[in-house]
Amino acid sequence: MMELGLWCGSLNEGSSNRAALDVVARSATRLGVSVSDLGSIAEVPAFVPTQVDEPPPIVAQLRARLEAVDAVIIAAPEYAAGVAGSTKNALDWLVGASTLYRKPVGVLSVGTTGGAFAIEHLVRTISWQGGLVLTTLGIAAPKTKVDGDGRFDDEVTLGELDRFTETLVGACQGTPADRLDRLTAVVSRYDIDPARFGQIR
Ligand SMILES: Cc1cc2nc3c(=O)[nH]c(=O)nc-3n(C[C@H](O)[C@H](O)[C@H](O)COP(=O)(O)O)c2cc1C
Repeated sequence: MMELGLWCGSLNEGSSNRAALDVVARSATRLGVSVSDLGSIAEVPAFVPTQVDEPPPIVAQLRARLEAVDAVIIAAPEYAAGVAGSTKNALDWLVGASTLYRKPVGVLSVGTTGGAFAIEHLVRTISWQGGLVLTTLGIAAPKTKVDGDGRFDDEVTLGELDRFTETLVGACQGTPADRLDRLTAVVSRYDIDPARFGQIR
C-alpha cells in the first residue's frame, strides 16, 4: 500500500494549512493510501552545516519518517512573500542527506493571497534537492472557506484538495512517463529544466 507523509509547515494553533492537510488525509484514505503525519517541526533547531552527518535527534527522526514514505505533501504558509522560515530551515537539514532526492512531493500553501511566493520558493528548494514536485495548490482567503471550527467546508476548495491529492497519488501509481509529464508541468512554470532530474523512474 502506498504511504503518504504529511508535513505541516505552520506552527499556528488553528492552522489553515493543517486544516487543508486534514482534507488531504481524508481524500488519500478514500483512494486506499496510508497516511502518516511527519510530526511537528517546531523543535527543529536552526540549521548548522557542520552537524549534517550527526544531526539532532529530531532531524534524524524527520529524515527517517520521510525516507519511510513513498510521497510527501508539504503544506506551509507564506510569510512576507516567502515560505515560512521554519519549513525552509527544516528543508535545509535534508540537503546533505539527500532525503528528498527522487521523492514525489505535492506542495500546498494556504494563505491570504494564495501562497504563490511560498509555492515558488518550495518548488525551487525541493527541486534543488532533487525532489520531484508533481503538483501544487494554493488556497487564498482561507477564513472565507472554513466553518466555525476552522474546517474547510467550501465545496470548490474541497474539490481542489481532492484533485490535488488524486493528482499526486495518480502520478505515483502511474508510469515514469506520467511522473515526468507532471514534473515538467510544474517546474517549467519556474524555468527549471526538467532534464536536471535525469531519468525518472
Ligand atoms: C508574519 C506574517 C506574514 C504574512 N505574510 C503573508 C504573505 O506574504 N502573503 C500571504 O498571502 N499571506 C501572508 N500572511 C498570512 C498567512 O498566509 C495566513 O495567516 C495563513 O493563514 C497562515 O497559515 P496557517 O493558518 O496555516 O498558519 C502572513 C501572516 C503572518 C503572520
